[in-house]
Amino acid sequence: MTVSSAPGKVYLFGEHAVVYGEPAVPCAIERRATVSVEVRDDSRVRVTAPDLSLDGFTVEYGGDGDGRPDVNVAKGLVEAGIAYVDAAVEQARDAADAPDAGFDVTVESAIPLGAGLGSSAAVVVAGIDAATRELGHPLSPEELAERAYRAEYDVQDGQASRADTFCCAVGGAVRVEGDDCRRIDAPNLPFVVGFDGGAGDTGKLVAGVRELREEYGFAADTVESIGDLVRHGESVLADADPAAEPTDELLAELGRLMDFDHGLLEALGVSSRTLDNMVWAAREAGAHGAKLTGAGGGGCIVALDETPETETALRYTAECQDVFRAELAPDGVRVEEE
Ligand code: MEV
Repeated sequence: MTVSSAPGKVYLFGEHAVVYGEPAVPCAIERRATVSVEVRDDSRVRVTAPDLSLDGFTVEYGGDGDGRPDVNVAKGLVEAGIAYVDAAVEQARDAADAPDAGFDVTVESAIPLGAGLGSSAAVVVAGIDAATRELGHPLSPEELAERAYRAEYDVQDGQASRADTFCCAVGGAVRVEGDDCRRIDAPNLPFVVGFDGGAGDTGKLVAGVRELREEYGFAADTVESIGDLVRHGESVLADADPAAEPTDELLAELGRLMDFDHGLLEALGVSSRTLDNMVWAAREAGAHGAKLTGAGGGGCIVALDETPETETALRYTAECQDVFRAELAPDGVRVEEE
Protein backbone atom coordinates (compact mmCIF):
# COMPACT_ATOMS: atom_id res chain seq x y z
CA MET A 1 0.00 0.00 0.00
CA THR A 2 1.18 3.55 -0.71
CA VAL A 3 -0.09 6.60 1.17
CA SER A 4 0.47 10.13 -0.19
CA SER A 5 -0.79 13.46 1.02
CA ALA A 6 -1.10 16.90 -0.57
CA PRO A 7 -1.99 20.29 0.93
CA GLY A 8 -4.96 22.54 0.32
CA LYS A 9 -4.44 26.20 -0.58
CA VAL A 10 -5.78 29.70 -0.24
CA TYR A 11 -5.53 32.38 -2.90
CA LEU A 12 -3.68 35.43 -1.66
CA PHE A 13 -5.06 36.90 -4.87
CA GLY A 14 -5.88 36.18 -8.52
CA GLU A 15 -8.56 33.44 -8.65
CA HIS A 16 -10.88 33.58 -11.68
CA ALA A 17 -8.66 36.05 -13.57
CA VAL A 18 -6.01 33.28 -13.74
CA VAL A 19 -8.38 31.31 -16.01
CA TYR A 20 -7.89 34.09 -18.65
CA GLY A 21 -4.10 34.18 -18.47
CA GLU A 22 -3.69 36.77 -15.70
CA PRO A 23 -1.25 35.89 -12.90
CA ALA A 24 -2.40 34.48 -9.54
CA VAL A 25 -0.68 33.79 -6.22
CA PRO A 26 -2.07 30.78 -4.36
CA CYS A 27 -0.40 29.58 -1.14
CA ALA A 28 -0.40 25.97 0.08
CA ILE A 29 -1.72 25.57 3.64
CA GLU A 30 -1.25 22.93 6.33
CA ARG A 31 -4.57 21.16 5.77
CA ARG A 32 -3.98 18.01 3.80
CA ALA A 33 -5.84 15.33 1.83
CA THR A 34 -4.41 11.84 2.30
CA VAL A 35 -4.96 9.13 -0.29
CA SER A 36 -4.07 5.46 0.29
CA VAL A 37 -3.81 3.22 -2.77
CA GLU A 38 -3.35 -0.53 -3.04
CA VAL A 39 -3.15 -2.33 -6.36
CA ARG A 40 -5.81 -5.03 -6.86
CA ASP A 41 -5.48 -8.21 -8.84
CA ASP A 42 -8.38 -7.22 -11.10
CA SER A 43 -9.08 -3.99 -12.98
CA ARG A 44 -11.79 -2.65 -10.66
CA VAL A 45 -11.56 0.47 -8.54
CA ARG A 46 -12.97 0.63 -5.02
CA VAL A 47 -13.10 4.06 -3.40
CA THR A 48 -13.72 4.58 0.30
CA ALA A 49 -14.01 8.05 1.75
CA PRO A 50 -14.74 7.68 5.46
CA ASP A 51 -14.69 11.36 6.34
CA LEU A 52 -15.58 13.13 3.13
CA SER A 53 -18.89 13.83 4.81
CA LEU A 54 -20.37 12.82 8.14
CA ASP A 55 -21.43 9.40 6.88
CA GLY A 56 -18.72 8.77 4.34
CA PHE A 57 -19.20 6.42 1.45
CA THR A 58 -17.77 3.40 -0.31
CA VAL A 59 -18.21 2.77 -3.98
CA GLU A 60 -16.84 0.06 -6.23
CA TYR A 61 -16.86 0.28 -9.97
CA GLY A 62 -15.26 -1.52 -12.85
CA GLY A 63 -15.26 -2.35 -16.54
CA ASP A 64 -19.00 -3.07 -16.63
CA GLY A 65 -19.89 0.48 -15.51
CA ASP A 66 -21.79 -0.60 -12.37
CA GLY A 67 -21.40 0.51 -8.78
CA ARG A 68 -22.80 4.01 -8.55
CA PRO A 69 -22.87 5.13 -4.93
CA ASP A 70 -25.77 4.30 -2.67
CA VAL A 71 -25.23 6.75 0.15
CA ASN A 72 -27.13 9.31 2.16
CA VAL A 73 -24.87 12.29 1.56
CA ALA A 74 -25.16 15.19 -0.89
CA LYS A 75 -25.18 13.41 -4.26
CA GLY A 76 -23.44 16.24 -6.11
CA LEU A 77 -20.47 16.22 -3.78
CA VAL A 78 -20.12 12.42 -3.87
CA GLU A 79 -20.33 12.37 -7.66
CA ALA A 80 -17.82 15.20 -7.92
CA GLY A 81 -15.49 13.36 -5.52
CA ILE A 82 -15.75 10.17 -7.56
CA ALA A 83 -15.20 12.03 -10.84
CA TYR A 84 -11.93 13.45 -9.49
CA VAL A 85 -10.74 10.07 -8.15
CA ASP A 86 -11.71 8.49 -11.46
CA ALA A 87 -9.76 11.09 -13.43
CA ALA A 88 -6.73 10.60 -11.13
CA VAL A 89 -6.88 6.81 -11.67
CA GLU A 90 -6.97 7.34 -15.45
CA GLN A 91 -3.94 9.64 -15.30
CA ALA A 92 -2.01 7.14 -13.15
CA ARG A 93 -2.85 4.25 -15.49
CA ASP A 94 -1.75 6.33 -18.47
CA ALA A 95 1.48 7.54 -16.84
CA ALA A 96 2.47 4.00 -15.83
CA ASP A 97 1.24 2.49 -19.10
CA ALA A 98 -0.99 0.14 -17.10
CA PRO A 99 -4.47 0.65 -18.63
CA ASP A 100 -6.02 -2.30 -16.77
CA ALA A 101 -4.63 -1.61 -13.29
CA GLY A 102 -7.25 -1.82 -10.52
CA PHE A 103 -6.98 -0.11 -7.13
CA ASP A 104 -8.44 0.09 -3.65
CA VAL A 105 -8.43 3.81 -2.86
CA THR A 106 -9.12 5.44 0.50
CA VAL A 107 -9.51 9.21 0.66
CA GLU A 108 -9.25 11.09 3.94
CA SER A 109 -9.34 14.85 3.87
CA ALA A 110 -9.17 17.71 6.33
CA ILE A 111 -10.03 20.08 3.47
CA PRO A 112 -13.75 20.82 3.09
CA LEU A 113 -15.06 19.85 -0.36
CA GLY A 114 -15.75 22.57 -2.91
CA ALA A 115 -15.08 25.32 -0.37
CA GLY A 116 -12.26 27.14 -2.17
CA LEU A 117 -9.37 25.41 -0.40
CA GLY A 118 -8.32 23.20 -3.32
CA SER A 119 -9.80 19.92 -2.03
CA SER A 120 -10.12 18.40 -5.50
CA ALA A 121 -6.57 19.35 -6.53
CA ALA A 122 -5.18 17.85 -3.30
CA VAL A 123 -7.10 14.57 -3.77
CA VAL A 124 -6.08 14.32 -7.43
CA VAL A 125 -2.39 15.11 -6.81
CA ALA A 126 -2.10 12.74 -3.82
CA GLY A 127 -4.10 10.06 -5.68
CA ILE A 128 -1.93 10.15 -8.81
CA ASP A 129 1.21 10.14 -6.66
CA ALA A 130 0.15 7.12 -4.59
CA ALA A 131 -1.19 5.17 -7.60
CA THR A 132 1.86 5.74 -9.81
CA ARG A 133 4.16 4.76 -6.92
CA GLU A 134 2.11 1.60 -6.41
CA LEU A 135 2.67 0.82 -10.09
CA GLY A 136 6.44 1.38 -9.68
CA HIS A 137 6.35 4.56 -11.77
CA PRO A 138 6.83 7.56 -9.46
CA LEU A 139 6.49 11.04 -10.99
CA SER A 140 8.20 14.34 -10.11
CA PRO A 141 6.02 17.05 -8.47
CA GLU A 142 6.03 18.93 -11.81
CA GLU A 143 4.85 15.83 -13.72
CA LEU A 144 2.19 15.26 -11.04
CA ALA A 145 1.06 18.88 -11.39
CA GLU A 146 0.70 18.41 -15.16
CA ARG A 147 -1.22 15.12 -14.80
CA ALA A 148 -3.44 16.57 -12.07
CA TYR A 149 -4.15 19.62 -14.22
CA ARG A 150 -5.30 17.36 -17.06
CA ALA A 151 -7.55 15.45 -14.63
CA GLU A 152 -9.14 18.68 -13.29
CA TYR A 153 -9.45 20.08 -16.80
CA ASP A 154 -11.43 16.99 -17.88
CA VAL A 155 -13.74 16.98 -14.84
CA GLN A 156 -14.32 20.76 -15.02
CA ASP A 157 -15.03 20.70 -18.78
CA GLY A 158 -11.97 22.70 -19.68
CA GLN A 159 -12.62 25.45 -17.10
CA ALA A 160 -9.50 25.05 -14.98
CA SER A 161 -6.22 26.90 -14.65
CA ARG A 162 -2.99 25.28 -13.48
CA ALA A 163 -3.02 27.26 -10.22
CA ASP A 164 -4.64 24.81 -7.75
CA THR A 165 -2.90 21.68 -9.00
CA PHE A 166 0.56 23.27 -9.31
CA CYS A 167 0.34 24.88 -5.87
CA CYS A 168 -0.66 21.70 -4.10
CA ALA A 169 1.93 19.59 -5.98
CA VAL A 170 4.91 21.82 -5.14
CA GLY A 171 3.76 23.55 -1.92
CA GLY A 172 4.65 27.01 -0.59
CA ALA A 173 3.59 30.21 -2.33
CA VAL A 174 3.45 30.01 -6.11
CA ARG A 175 2.88 32.26 -9.06
CA VAL A 176 0.88 30.97 -12.01
CA GLU A 177 0.38 32.80 -15.29
CA GLY A 178 -0.93 30.59 -18.09
CA ASP A 179 1.51 27.68 -18.47
CA ASP A 180 4.22 29.50 -16.53
CA CYS A 181 4.13 28.11 -12.99
CA ARG A 182 6.81 28.65 -10.36
CA ARG A 183 7.42 28.84 -6.63
CA ILE A 184 8.03 32.29 -5.18
CA ASP A 185 9.47 33.42 -1.86
CA ALA A 186 6.96 34.58 0.71
CA PRO A 187 7.00 34.98 4.49
CA ASN A 188 4.65 32.84 6.59
CA LEU A 189 1.58 35.07 6.43
CA PRO A 190 -0.95 34.99 9.31
CA PHE A 191 -3.88 33.48 7.39
CA VAL A 192 -7.21 33.03 9.14
CA VAL A 193 -9.81 30.98 7.26
CA GLY A 194 -13.57 31.23 7.83
CA PHE A 195 -15.85 28.54 6.39
CA ASP A 196 -19.61 28.98 5.94
CA GLY A 197 -20.22 25.21 5.69
CA GLY A 198 -21.23 25.51 2.06
CA ALA A 199 -19.70 24.88 -1.33
CA GLY A 200 -19.68 26.63 -4.69
CA ASP A 201 -19.97 25.01 -8.12
CA THR A 202 -16.63 25.93 -9.70
CA GLY A 203 -17.74 25.08 -13.25
CA LYS A 204 -20.86 27.29 -13.02
CA LEU A 205 -19.02 30.17 -11.33
CA VAL A 206 -16.23 30.16 -13.92
CA ALA A 207 -18.82 30.00 -16.71
CA GLY A 208 -20.65 32.98 -15.15
CA VAL A 209 -17.51 35.12 -15.18
CA ARG A 210 -16.79 34.03 -18.77
CA GLU A 211 -20.27 35.18 -19.87
CA LEU A 212 -19.96 38.55 -18.10
CA ARG A 213 -16.52 39.06 -19.62
CA GLU A 214 -17.84 38.31 -23.10
CA GLU A 215 -20.88 40.53 -22.69
CA TYR A 216 -19.36 43.62 -21.10
CA GLY A 217 -16.08 45.36 -21.83
CA PHE A 218 -16.04 46.62 -18.23
CA ALA A 219 -16.24 43.04 -16.92
CA ALA A 220 -13.24 42.15 -19.11
CA ASP A 221 -11.52 45.25 -17.67
CA THR A 222 -12.36 44.01 -14.16
CA VAL A 223 -10.62 40.70 -14.90
CA GLU A 224 -7.60 42.63 -16.21
CA SER A 225 -7.64 44.82 -13.10
CA ILE A 226 -7.30 41.70 -10.97
CA GLY A 227 -4.20 40.87 -13.04
CA ASP A 228 -2.78 44.38 -12.41
CA LEU A 229 -3.49 44.01 -8.70
CA VAL A 230 -1.69 40.64 -8.61
CA ARG A 231 1.35 42.08 -10.39
CA HIS A 232 1.47 44.84 -7.78
CA GLY A 233 1.09 42.28 -4.99
CA GLU A 234 3.96 40.24 -6.40
CA SER A 235 6.26 43.25 -6.32
CA VAL A 236 5.26 43.86 -2.69
CA LEU A 237 6.07 40.23 -1.82
CA ALA A 238 9.35 40.37 -3.74
CA ASP A 239 10.53 43.27 -1.52
CA ALA A 240 9.73 41.33 1.69
CA ASP A 241 12.22 39.18 3.59
CA PRO A 242 10.79 35.63 3.33
CA ALA A 243 12.71 34.45 6.40
CA ALA A 244 11.51 37.24 8.70
CA GLU A 245 8.18 37.80 10.44
CA PRO A 246 6.00 39.88 8.09
CA THR A 247 6.20 43.59 8.93
CA ASP A 248 3.13 45.72 9.68
CA GLU A 249 3.69 47.64 6.43
CA LEU A 250 3.76 44.41 4.41
CA LEU A 251 0.58 43.07 6.05
CA ALA A 252 -1.20 46.41 5.61
CA GLU A 253 -0.37 46.56 1.90
CA LEU A 254 -1.23 42.90 1.20
CA GLY A 255 -4.46 43.28 3.19
CA ARG A 256 -5.43 46.33 1.19
CA LEU A 257 -4.91 44.40 -2.03
CA MET A 258 -6.97 41.48 -0.68
CA ASP A 259 -9.85 43.87 0.12
CA PHE A 260 -9.63 45.31 -3.36
CA ASP A 261 -9.53 41.84 -4.93
CA HIS A 262 -12.64 40.81 -3.00
CA GLY A 263 -14.43 43.89 -4.33
CA LEU A 264 -13.54 43.01 -7.92
CA LEU A 265 -14.61 39.37 -7.43
CA GLU A 266 -17.86 40.60 -5.88
CA ALA A 267 -18.43 42.75 -8.97
CA LEU A 268 -17.90 39.65 -11.12
CA GLY A 269 -20.73 37.94 -9.23
CA VAL A 270 -18.81 35.18 -7.47
CA SER A 271 -19.25 36.25 -3.84
CA SER A 272 -22.28 35.47 -1.68
CA ARG A 273 -23.98 37.03 1.31
CA THR A 274 -22.34 34.57 3.71
CA LEU A 275 -18.89 35.19 2.25
CA ASP A 276 -19.45 38.97 2.34
CA ASN A 277 -20.65 38.81 5.96
CA MET A 278 -17.55 36.84 7.01
CA VAL A 279 -15.31 39.26 5.09
CA TRP A 280 -16.91 42.21 6.90
CA ALA A 281 -16.70 40.48 10.28
CA ALA A 282 -12.96 39.98 9.71
CA ARG A 283 -12.41 43.58 8.59
CA GLU A 284 -14.36 44.99 11.52
CA ALA A 285 -12.29 42.83 13.88
CA GLY A 286 -9.17 44.58 12.59
CA ALA A 287 -7.89 42.12 9.97
CA HIS A 288 -5.42 43.73 7.55
CA GLY A 289 -7.65 42.49 4.73
CA ALA A 290 -10.10 39.74 3.82
CA LYS A 291 -11.42 38.16 0.66
CA LEU A 292 -13.17 35.06 -0.61
CA THR A 293 -10.81 32.31 -1.72
CA GLY A 294 -11.23 29.99 -4.70
CA ALA A 295 -14.24 29.91 -6.98
CA GLY A 296 -16.60 31.56 -4.45
CA GLY A 297 -20.37 31.18 -4.33
CA GLY A 298 -20.00 29.84 -0.78
CA GLY A 299 -17.22 28.13 1.15
CA CYS A 300 -14.27 30.02 2.59
CA ILE A 301 -12.81 33.44 3.10
CA VAL A 302 -9.21 34.17 3.97
CA ALA A 303 -8.13 37.07 6.17
CA LEU A 304 -4.75 38.34 7.33
CA ASP A 305 -4.49 38.85 11.07
CA GLU A 306 -1.62 38.02 13.42
CA THR A 307 -3.82 38.74 16.48
CA PRO A 308 -6.65 36.45 17.75
CA GLU A 309 -9.28 39.13 16.97
CA THR A 310 -10.46 37.89 13.56
CA GLU A 311 -10.68 34.29 14.74
CA THR A 312 -12.78 35.35 17.73
CA ALA A 313 -15.04 37.59 15.64
CA LEU A 314 -15.63 34.84 13.07
CA ARG A 315 -16.44 32.35 15.83
CA TYR A 316 -19.29 34.66 16.83
CA THR A 317 -20.45 35.32 13.26
CA ALA A 318 -23.68 33.47 12.51
CA GLU A 319 -22.68 32.61 8.94
CA CYS A 320 -19.34 31.11 9.96
CA GLN A 321 -19.41 27.37 10.71
CA ASP A 322 -15.70 26.83 11.22
CA VAL A 323 -12.66 29.06 11.63
CA PHE A 324 -8.99 28.15 11.79
CA ARG A 325 -5.50 29.52 11.37
CA ALA A 326 -3.68 28.24 8.30
CA GLU A 327 0.10 28.02 8.23
CA LEU A 328 1.88 28.16 4.90
CA ALA A 329 2.72 24.54 3.93
CA PRO A 330 6.31 24.35 2.66
CA ASP A 331 5.80 20.75 1.42
CA GLY A 332 3.63 19.98 -1.54
CA VAL A 333 2.80 16.36 -2.28
CA ARG A 334 4.48 13.98 0.16
CA VAL A 335 4.76 10.20 0.57
CA GLU A 336 3.47 9.25 4.00
CA GLU A 337 3.89 5.47 3.72
CA GLU A 338 5.32 3.16 1.04
C1 MEV B 1 -10.78 27.65 -8.23
O1 MEV B 1 -10.13 27.17 -7.03
C2 MEV B 1 -9.99 28.78 -8.82
C3 MEV B 1 -10.53 29.32 -10.14
O2 MEV B 1 -9.64 30.37 -10.54
C4 MEV B 1 -10.60 28.27 -11.22
C5 MEV B 1 -9.22 27.80 -11.67
O3 MEV B 1 -8.23 28.54 -11.55
O4 MEV B 1 -9.14 26.67 -12.20
C6 MEV B 1 -11.91 29.93 -9.96
